[in-house]
Amino acid sequence: MNDPDFFDQASLIAAHDEGNAFDAVVPPIVQTSLFTFPNYDEMLETYRGEKVRPTYTRGLNPTVRMFEEMLAKLEGAEDAIGFASGMSAISSAVLSFVEPGDRIVAVRHIYPDAFRLFETLLARMRIEVTYVDGRDEDAVASALPGAKLFYMESPTSWVMETHDIGALAALAKSRGIPTIIDNSWASPVFQRPLSLGVDIVVHSASKYLGGHSDVVAGVVAGSKDLIGRIRAEAYPYLGGKLSPFDAWLLIRGLRTLPIRMRAHHASGLEIARRLQDHRIVEKVCHPGLANLLPAGLTGTSGLFSFVFRDGIDIRTFADRLKLFKLGVSWGGHESLIVPGEVVLQQKAQPNSAMAFGVHPRSVRLHVGLEGTEALWSDLETAITAASEEKT
Ligand SMILES: Cc1ncc(COP(=O)(O)O)c(C=O)c1O
Repeated sequence: MNDPDFFDQASLIAAHDEGNAFDAVVPPIVQTSLFTFPNYDEMLETYRGEKVRPTYTRGLNPTVRMFEEMLAKLEGAEDAIGFASGMSAISSAVLSFVEPGDRIVAVRHIYPDAFRLFETLLARMRIEVTYVDGRDEDAVASALPGAKLFYMESPTSWVMETHDIGALAALAKSRGIPTIIDNSWASPVFQRPLSLGVDIVVHSASKYLGGHSDVVAGVVAGSKDLIGRIRAEAYPYLGGKLSPFDAWLLIRGLRTLPIRMRAHHASGLEIARRLQDHRIVEKVCHPGLANLLPAGLTGTSGLFSFVFRDGIDIRTFADRLKLFKLGVSWGGHESLIVPGEVVLQQKAQPNSAMAFGVHPRSVRLHVGLEGTEALWSDLETAITAASEEKT
């Protein structure tokens, strides 16, 4: 992790505090559904679009707007829109660029519910998706002609494949194809895709942006023009609006984002290295273990997966862990595991785990903020118990 802007990001967030009522260090939550007009003329000017002011919280709310502006600054975007979840951010962004009969190119191994969105609702609208290995630029280049959208995620979910985002964005740009990337894993602290030529960034803000596992939210960032397009249709009509209270929690989360990401980076990488050296581990999928991080990625987060060698009882491993809890999601303060053999039995259709390379002996880890040595000792104890169980 060598980003010279690292601490500038913290001051950038702090700069947003100016102008709070009573000089409070924390902004108020404008918890209201509607805003009244002082008189007829002001209402008329607002309806005519001559004046921008909050009218109804699904359209504009000051607390939500504050979060959007902070996030836009962090991503280096002209504008951003908050959503009620990462999936509503993804679906609203994608639906703003495609119509029936279109084709999307997506990198393989994307977040499973994005895959399911593509394979169910979008398929019903006769929108086809071609999946490509994002590491193979020739494969991306041959899939792109005729596509209306290129959808990226780097690193990808579970197997953590990383891509040269700048090179892929340039391939799409040369054909006039807009690009969207899910940047939830790296956060703007470690990866700013817009500066690499990507058009739209989406986040599950439920992860690192919130950082405390107490909010489900999403956000989309990009140029005024493209965000304006999403704001005009998908945002109001699909209605996945971020609530003022959740926006307030996100504002709180953003204040510690750079410092938390630094801790996830250090602890996650150290645990990945120790797992890689462990005799019972076959493979660790962590982007930081490669000699070089891909261009544009300046640090790594706490989410990665590894594959056990044969000879370990994964149920015992999971049940013996004390600090690592069994749980989905990630990005909060707490450490979590998800066993691959459980995900492979998920009922949701289509089950992307099969298609997306989830190994039955793999485990996805989220390394939280509890401290490296305590977490490593938890893992070692559980691994020893699970190896004895199997022999
Ligand atoms: C990479 C990624 N993108 C998007 C999402 C969806 O976000 P949300 O759960 O906030 O809808 C998730 C959720 O787990 C995710 O892991």
